[in-house]
Amino acid sequence: MPRRALRKIDPALDLQRYLKLPDELPRPWNAAHLFDRDAPLEIEVGSGKGLFLQSAAERNPGHNFLGIEIATKYARFAASRLARGGLTNGVMVHGDAQPIFADLLPDNSLTAVHVYFPDPWWKKRHQKRKVLNDRFVKQVERTLVVGGSLHYWTDVQDRFLETLELLAAETKLVGPLEVAETPAEHDLDYRTHFERRTRLAEMPVYRAEFRKE
Ligand SMILES: C[S@@+](CC[C@H](N)C(=O)[O-])C[C@H]1O[C@@H](n2cnc3c(N)ncnc32)[C@H](O)[C@@H]1O
Repeated sequence: MPRRALRKIDPALDLQRYLKLPDELPRPWNAAHLFDRDAPLEIEVGSGKGLFLQSAAERNPGHNFLGIEIATKYARFAASRLARGGLTNGVMVHGDAQPIFADLLPDNSLTAVHVYFPDPWWKKRHQKRKVLNDRFVKQVERTLVVGGSLHYWTDVQDRFLETLELLAAETKLVGPLEVAETPAEHDLDYRTHFERRTRLAEMPVYRAEFRKE
């Protein structure tokens, strides 16, 4: 499927409040300091162009949303969407989610973790780069509050089934809970850019939710 070029970011936008490097995050961790308020925190790993983060921050003003994106141009683009909307309950981190979870985030600190369409890393020698690996799923379980959820969607059936097995083997998270497809008439009705691409190509999307009990 052809990739559309990213729209130019308005140079007048001030991204400082919306885009952070891992080194700029509060240590020890203090989400209230990062967002200037205390609220339930949801994290998206691999935000891409930032559609989920923007719409989730708009629709749930009572929650804080942190996106983590390793690719510079996508992290900046996603931050620019938050800045354009003045969405002060959203922040993008330009960095690798793995050490942020392992080294920084405390136990029982996240209301939800969202992982949508993670890179499948087809080649065997690249598979250790997969975001949802055995170490990371344990970090997700550790950092979720009791009652918190992991949301995982993908268009790759093999990866989906493998990841469900991994979650069952490595964690006590309860699931997969079924997630229904929602109607989408407008670009902003899709959860992420990749969900839009997949559904417009009439390909299946595999969705699961897991809960910490
Ligand atoms: C296939 S894209 C999906 C983007 C978006 N979630 C969507 O559904 O449209 C996967 C994204 O995850 C990012 N990514 C991969 N590994 C990452 C990591 N360790 N930490 C943060 N982001 C990561 C990639 O740069 C890419 O933007």
